[in-house]
Amino acid sequence: MLSRALLLLSALASPSLGDEAASMAPLFSDLTQKFVPVGPVEVTSGILPEWLEFDRLVNGFGQYGGIIDGENSTFFEFDYLFDVLSYVQSWNIKDGQVSYGHSMTKSTYYNQTVNGERPMLRSFGGTTPALTPKEKMETIKATSVSDNYNVNIVDVGGKKFTISDTTGQVEIDPADLTTMSDFHYDDELDKQTMGIISCAHPTQLPNDPYMYNYQAQLFGNAPHHREGAHKLQFYRVDTTKEPLTREVMIDIDVQDLSYLHQFANTPNYLVLLHYPLFWQVMGIATSTEILPNMKWDASKGTKVQVIDKRTWTVTKEYTTDATFAYHHLNAYEEGDNVIVDILTNICDESNGDASCDDMNK
Ligand SMILES: *[C@@H]1O[C@H](CO)[C@@H](O)[C@H](O)[C@H]1NC(C)=O
Ligand SMILES: *[C@@H]1O[C@H](CO)[C@@H](O)[C@H](O)[C@H]1NC(C)=O
Repeated sequence: MLSRALLLLSALASPSLGDEAASMAPLFSDLTQKFVPVGPVEVTSGILPEWLEFDRLVNGFGQYGGIIDGENSTFFEFDYLFDVLSYVQSWNIKDGQVSYGHSMTKSTYYNQTVNGERPMLRSFGGTTPALTPKEKMETIKATSVSDNYNVNIVDVGGKKFTISDTTGQVEIDPADLTTMSDFHYDDELDKQTMGIISCAHPTQLPNDPYMYNYQAQLFGNAPHHREGAHKLQFYRVDTTKEPLTREVMIDIDVQDLSYLHQFANTPNYLVLLHYPLFWQVMGIATSTEILPNMKWDASKGTKVQVIDKRTWTVTKEYTTDATFAYHHLNAYEEGDNVIVDILTNICDESNGDASCDDMNK
């Protein structure tokens, strides 16, 4: 029952590469149990320092296809990691005692699959077997996105939300990992039908009541087409106030919509790196898969924008070499400078033009 938890612990402790590879394998396979109640687990080796205390909820990839409740085989499989069904883990360490539990996230998407239905929603990388022509038609017509939020869990004013790069969130009860319903903010952003893309890493500095993130409003500038067709609406949430509400602070106009998975937040600035890996919005709208519509265009370079939170204006903007990254490691201010440390992906420069179309490999 605890094999997965213990394997994860041993992956952290293991010095040998062979063991590491073996212990990584469960990360890329279905959970053997969909639900393990949160409870104490045995520590089989080592001693936990008395001072060590943490309380952590994480999500991840729990099920690699659709399994009908009570059956034991998938009726379809996902072809790409980003689509894998989300689950939530709870880890707690206190007074030398470890407790652990996990549960599949009971999203609308998941609930459909356990009832034997194929959700008619776009996926990143498709499924095996592929959708039938009729299912494809249904999927292309869909205007909503999946609520299979498998990328990150955030605490917003005490509520635990499981989220992804698309908008929306499902609330999780950390005590027993129950999936509460889809959470909706009572605000204007929630009503935007073209507010589909967001960022899986909202950010809040210690002792700052505000959490920051953005929602991309597709064709938000149409029909004017001033600076760009779309706009990134940067908002903040005062996490000390009920009900939680998002307040739009600045609109960033963009012609091409970058895959912008994380941005930097320092006391005075937000720093955006618009990598030249673009969501081809029209392509996505007319197909069932997103991945073939993510296009790398090195000629556009990486556009850097610095937003000053004191004035809510873009104070600096320039274009640098084409690169791609998912995650930021650190950001801080040094005098008038902002230092942003990002984990860039290894690009293929064999053809003279850095190719970072990482997702499409
Ligand atoms: C489900 O399938 C696995 C292997 O595919 C097997 O080991 C397990 O016993 C099966 N469980 C049930 C309840 O049939
Ligand atoms: C999915 O179904 C479960 C009951 O099995 C329910 O508790 C949960 O709220 C449902 N999820 C959504 C998003 O409606």
